[in-house]
Amino acid sequence: MKVLIVGSGGREHALAWACARSPRVDKIYCAPGNAGISKIAELVPLKADQFEELADFAMEKGVGLTVVGMDDPLVGGIVDVFEKRGLRVFGPRRNAAILEGSKAFSKELMKKYGIPTASYETFTDLGEARSYLTSLEKFPVVLKASGLALGKGVLICEDLQSALDGAQAIMGEKKFGQAGDEMVVEEFLTGREVSVLSFVDGTHIREMSSAQDYKRAGDGDTGLNTGGMGNVSPNPWYTEDIQRFCREKIFQPTVDAMKAEGREFKGVIFFGLMLTEDGPKVLEYNCRFGDPEAQVVLPRMENDIVDVMEACIDGTLDQIELRFTDNACVCVVLASGGYPSSYEKGKVISGLESFEGMKNCYCFHAGTAMQGDAVVTSGGRVLGITALGADTEDARRKAYGAAGNIEFDGKYYRHDIAEFH
Ligand code: AMP
Ligand code: GLY
Repeated sequence: MKVLIVGSGGREHALAWACARSPRVDKIYCAPGNAGISKIAELVPLKADQFEELADFAMEKGVGLTVVGMDDPLVGGIVDVFEKRGLRVFGPRRNAAILEGSKAFSKELMKKYGIPTASYETFTDLGEARSYLTSLEKFPVVLKASGLALGKGVLICEDLQSALDGAQAIMGEKKFGQAGDEMVVEEFLTGREVSVLSFVDGTHIREMSSAQDYKRAGDGDTGLNTGGMGNVSPNPWYTEDIQRFCREKIFQPTVDAMKAEGREFKGVIFFGLMLTEDGPKVLEYNCRFGDPEAQVVLPRMENDIVDVMEACIDGTLDQIELRFTDNACVCVVLASGGYPSSYEKGKVISGLESFEGMKNCYCFHAGTAMQGDAVVTSGGRVLGITALGADTEDARRKAYGAAGNIEFDGKYYRHDIAEFH
């Protein structure tokens, strides 16, 4: 089978790597991809928003499965375009990807179907949002641009003044573009965060092993929010009791709710959960694999990923049992100095050859490109150094050890990924 992967980050590298392990796959294409992905896939010079051109390419090459890694094309309806052409594609249609594409939609869904989440109000008018904020007695409060904002559209405001400033930035100045046409104002929750990715076939759901993201740029959860500076799987706070609760009250109810709304979801639902004193609550839904969650979860998955994705498309996921190795995986992101604000590109990366032939240790590329024979930085998150170990401590030691082999100008990373003591 020929597989086409759409996207260019560390998640797509991990997806390409997982597909390459499948004995059913003999050719992988990736559009547009990056320098690391080019070692295992043929890069296609098309962007993720060129739906028709991508579908033309898949038709022409006889691609048997297209896997869409990124949220933007999914929310924009790439799956509908492929399906119309009779192409097999893994991911939700546009009417289901709204689960991530509109926080106003997902909050309304949770309220309607009794799925635990923070209490909230939604606004399309800045004046109304301002009067509501002024009436609040309890701070902090959380403001969220409803649409897609690269994981940056969430503001935690400590007092009324910063909340009013935040509302002005989101809805007035449109700091996150159209994502701020609508804004969700949410109760502030505290607790441990857990990422649970799951395969969904419209009716059935199979969760992958849990993970923990590290969203802030600096050690000890300081600095700005990023797309994710590291990850570890499994998440030690996600106990069997919590899992049981989530299955009964959150996971299956979400799949059932989408179906009842006529928005059958096929693909990956990523549950961003917070374990509060009142039990687990949904912080957000994503309609795709996490980045870098995919990098720590997929190396632990024993199933052939192509079988599982096809079962999602065919509605036969009930026949699949997901299996994960009894070990741990840690990913440390090496980023460009300045990320998530402005940073320079084009820095030569050295030490990549040290990963060749290494076992249980992977260098997933995120923002890299070829410049002549050299691999150079081309994004904020550059590499995801990932290691499997007997337990989190072992995996953590191996990942940080391997991260030391890589050098580039301005390289920075968090030192406390998977540090649980
Ligand atoms: P989101 O993009 O919705 O996952 O939000 C990004 C981050 O903001 C989350 O990972 C949390 O750390 C934080 N966050 C979001 N919603 C809340 C909330 N209601 N209470 C506290 N923190 C939140
Ligand atoms: N790492 C969080 C995300 O992919 O949204």
